[in-house]
Amino acid sequence: MYNFNFYNPTRIFFGKNQLENIDKQVPTDAKVLITFGGGSAKKSGLIDKVKTILGNRKVFEFGGIEPNPRYETLVKAVEVVRNENIDFIIAVGGGSVIDGTKFITLASNYKGDARDLLKYGFMPIPLNVVNKVVPFGTVLTLPATGSEMNSGAVISYEHGKFAVMCELSFPKFSILDPTITFTLPKIQVANGIVDAFIHTTEQYLTYPVDAKIQDRIAEGILLTLIEIGETTISEPENYDARANLVWSATMALNGVIGTGVPQDWTTHMIGHELTALFGIDHGQTLAIVLPALLDVRRDKKHAKLLQYAERVWNIKNGTDDEKIDLAIQKTKDFFESLGVKTKLSQYGVTADKISVIVDQLKAHGLTALSETRDLSLEISKQILEKAF
Ligand code: NZQ
Ligand code: ZN
Repeated sequence: MYNFNFYNPTRIFFGKNQLENIDKQVPTDAKVLITFGGGSAKKSGLIDKVKTILGNRKVFEFGGIEPNPRYETLVKAVEVVRNENIDFIIAVGGGSVIDGTKFITLASNYKGDARDLLKYGFMPIPLNVVNKVVPFGTVLTLPATGSEMNSGAVISYEHGKFAVMCELSFPKFSILDPTITFTLPKIQVANGIVDAFIHTTEQYLTYPVDAKIQDRIAEGILLTLIEIGETTISEPENYDARANLVWSATMALNGVIGTGVPQDWTTHMIGHELTALFGIDHGQTLAIVLPALLDVRRDKKHAKLLQYAERVWNIKNGTDDEKIDLAIQKTKDFFESLGVKTKLSQYGVTADKISVIVDQLKAHGLTALSETRDLSLEISKQILEKAF
């Protein structure tokens, strides 16, 4: 196991009837901004409930944060924060609203052009660039990204999606009430399952470093998602199934399983280009890329793919290659069983666009990806061809 430095200060309130905790977490004299998306949280009455809990505090609202939140939208919220001297933000939504809010809190305290904050990628923004943020909490409405318990955000600008990380941008608290997610359309639940699954594989399907705890927690998350996936889609109000999805998604990307192990975020990097170019949902892009990537990188990932085949899919017979083939096929079948298609061509993308995607990867400097930093543009092209 590699050395690591683990920090996660987010308080989690999990379960039914947890919203009331907001009252204790937000200073009584705070001027609060509630951020939200396209309207689902308004329609369900959730925003009104949060406002009632905030009582006499002065409350402002900023709605309209779109899926794959855009820089141009978020800077408008920065103006509200500055003009109204907001001192606490509550993000009510899925990954897009929470990510957008992280950017708003960072940009509000940055003196220069906020686009500078998009340039750091996976490198955390140094504390001498932004040294304080407006504190914020979240009310999670969509289990998928883990954004409710991590310090990362993904912001869209022009034709790209940019990672933004900063130690200051962990939520102070997150309310994880599975019943709040009952209103989700089936496709968003399916996307969320795939996203959580692939966050886990990105930190697990690399090469062994004898990190037994991380491996077994990762396998536990994958097995849980496989066990409850179809149920939580077909029975949206089955509390236990949904509760297990919510906590799986949070655990998949709150830093725990990524401690002390190699990571391979290639599926996400290629997936982000598919969203930026063709507007394909985040979870769907991952379902397209992962099976092809595992196939193309089967030699690099040989030992962990066998472990995955045996421990997650209970594949015990056959040659190594047969076991790996079957594990990849079962992974695909799982995504398909949730209603998520796994081929690029099924999303209306034509073969001539593969070179456009590769050009985008090049333009964004994504030319040496993976846990071993040797996944070149040529290999990305092979993956995309296999995924077509
Ligand atoms: O905007 P509203 O009207 O709220 O509708 C949303 C949106 O259309 C809807 N929705 C959310 N909760 C609902 C609901 N509809 C009914 N009932 C509810 N309870 O769902 C739609 C999608 O929401 P979005 O927030 O975009 O989805 P998700 O949570 O999947 O977030 C995706 C974003 O997160 C980024 C992605 O790149 C993408 O931009 N990611 C963030 C990560 C992180 N911060 O760590 C990691 C991830 O890998 C990911 O890249
Ligand atoms: Zn993701």
